[in-house]
Amino acid sequence: MSKIPIVTLKDVCLEYGHKKILDNLSFDIYPREIVSILGESGSGKSTILKLISNLIYPTKGDIIVKANRLGMSFQYPALFNSMTVWENVALALFETTDFDHEQIDAIVKESLKMVGMDKVIDLYPEELSGGMQKRVSIARTLALKPDVLLYDEPSTGLDPATAARLETDMINLRDDIGVTSIVVTHVIETVLKVSDRILILDKGYIVWEGTKEDFLSESSPYPCSFRERQTIEYCQQKCKENKKNE
Ligand SMILES: Nc1ncnc2c1ncn2[C@@H]1O[C@H](COP(=O)(O)OP(=O)(O)O)[C@@H](O)[C@H]1O
Ligand SMILES: [Mg+2]
Repeated sequence: MSKIPIVTLKDVCLEYGHKKILDNLSFDIYPREIVSILGESGSGKSTILKLISNLIYPTKGDIIVKANRLGMSFQYPALFNSMTVWENVALALFETTDFDHEQIDAIVKESLKMVGMDKVIDLYPEELSGGMQKRVSIARTLALKPDVLLYDEPSTGLDPATAARLETDMINLRDDIGVTSIVVTHVIETVLKVSDRILILDKGYIVWEGTKEDFLSESSPYPCSFRERQTIEYCQQKCKENKKNE
């Protein structure tokens, strides 16, 4: 894995009014890795993705993005209901490239195929399940050839089988075309399936970092809290007692 990060956050602070959301947050993301940022609701996960994609600016600190193109998969797919799947995926290509109809058609089909949605090309969003809509929205992002993909709660609201398929798509995109992915979520199953590396966000900064294996085996309070669905205070107490008994 290359040692030059593709995304870096360095001492990033963000406040909304007087409320501190991110507090000297720092991390690096390297090319071709899938990194999950795990945190409770309201911990600032969506905010991090908005900062990386330049939709908002930090109060302090640096955000360095070396990607040629960032793609964002939002929590809700937001497809245009009056357009077919093909038209939804093609739209940005017509607007931002000089490709002709034939070239765009090829990219649309290729992108839909990557997420297994090439069979629904002529359907309208309302004819698709929520999971299929989400995958189409990812194809729409892929059509623009991002090298970094940001996923906001990718599996939330999906049935288990659909979520699993989406997770497989994420892994295939890394293995087949070298996409780097940053996944923010509070769903532990997704984290365990896709992650090369896991960061845990709490109090505005990264409180724990490790691999999937570390996450499953470490007895420190943060992995324990997510694994066992217990409060951090409970896990801190439990870890302290375990240490005493050692
Ligand atoms: N535009 C905003 N104005 C004020 N507060 C906001 C705004 N967006 C988010 N927040 C607050 O920032 C915190 C982090 O939000 P968010 O990043 O959406 O959390 P997460 O995605 O982890 O659930 C929350 O307390 C939320 O209420
Ligand atoms: Mg969120």
